[in-house]
Amino acid sequence: MDGTVGRGLLARYGSWLPLTAATPALSLGEGGTPLVHVRRLGAQMGLRNLHVKVEGMNPTGSFKDRGMVVAVAKAIEAGAQSVICASTGNTSASAAAYGAASGLEVVVVLPKGAIAVGKLLQALMAGARVVAVDGNFDEALAVVREMAADDDHPTTLVNSVNPHRIAGQKTAAFEICDDLGRAPDFLAIPVGNAGNICAYWAGFTEYAMAGVVEQRPRMIGFQAAGAAPIVLGHRVDHPETIASAIRIGNPASWSLATAARDESGGTIDAVTDDEIIAAYQDLARSEGIFCEPSSAASIAGVRRMAAAGEIEPDALVVAVLTGNGLKDPNTAERSAGDRIIESRATMDAVRAALGW
Ligand code: F0G
Repeated sequence: MDGTVGRGLLARYGSWLPLTAATPALSLGEGGTPLVHVRRLGAQMGLRNLHVKVEGMNPTGSFKDRGMVVAVAKAIEAGAQSVICASTGNTSASAAAYGAASGLEVVVVLPKGAIAVGKLLQALMAGARVVAVDGNFDEALAVVREMAADDDHPTTLVNSVNPHRIAGQKTAAFEICDDLGRAPDFLAIPVGNAGNICAYWAGFTEYAMAGVVEQRPRMIGFQAAGAAPIVLGHRVDHPETIASAIRIGNPASWSLATAARDESGGTIDAVTDDEIIAAYQDLARSEGIFCEPSSAASIAGVRRMAAAGEIEPDALVVAVLTGNGLKDPNTAERSAGDRIIESRATMDAVRAALGW
């Protein structure tokens, strides 16, 4: 028996996904991630019902696996031999893994020098063909869209402009509702290329239409201040932020994201790098949850709105932590500071070093 039969998203949420009898039963065990009630961090913000959806627990350490399992399975179903994507790192790590598990050629086009080291190594380890271009993510995406549209060398685009990605990612909203027994009041989420906020909104909407839940949440999305085109209302040609996963100046799903915001009565706002890093550290130190900097944008945004009285103390809030902190050891090292105490290897010396 295949090790992941009965597990993963295609098995759990198949009836909500665009599957056919010919769709292969692909899984690396994605989905089913923890929803954690973060009481200590919530108390610091005056929120009693703050939860985090720990998407870093997916097989390649980010939410991308939810969309990638569907996109790659559908690509195989359609007879593809090759998949391609542009990425700030996580999409490429996920495409590389699911492509490897399926025996496909995987090509990833990345902004040179702008990818967290763990993500780059994930793609390389899984055997993807990695092309580093002298441009940013938006330029890399334009290149792969052009390549996928050209019939000379057929390849399937697996960025979130592929609707199967969004279909898979909406399952995170289903899981949240299944765990809570209702939809939250607020769903906080980092926004980069803006696919995921649309996927969550689609998931909540489908569950509400089917009568599984009565209400839908207000969608509150957060961009990094140096890469906040939706907030500013115009493209950002040179996006800059420490949160490299969301360093995007021209999101592909821009108009769908603003529609989700408006239909839900929510907001898309910007948080500064300082606010992101503070949230990143606080999550680790108060809750033991190590996410990547971009993920912490959701917590930074919730903190700001709670302080402004825009989220009531009893509101049921879910913040999505999109990726695992281990992916970006360089930012962690800079944020952790020099906190190692050196000592001789005796009990007395260690006690003395600790000031015990
Ligand atoms: N958080 C993380 C950790 C991400 O990797 C991304 C996107 C986002 C949030 C934003 O999600 O793009 O759907 O709005 N990463 C893409 C990538 C762009 O290439 O890995 P989004």
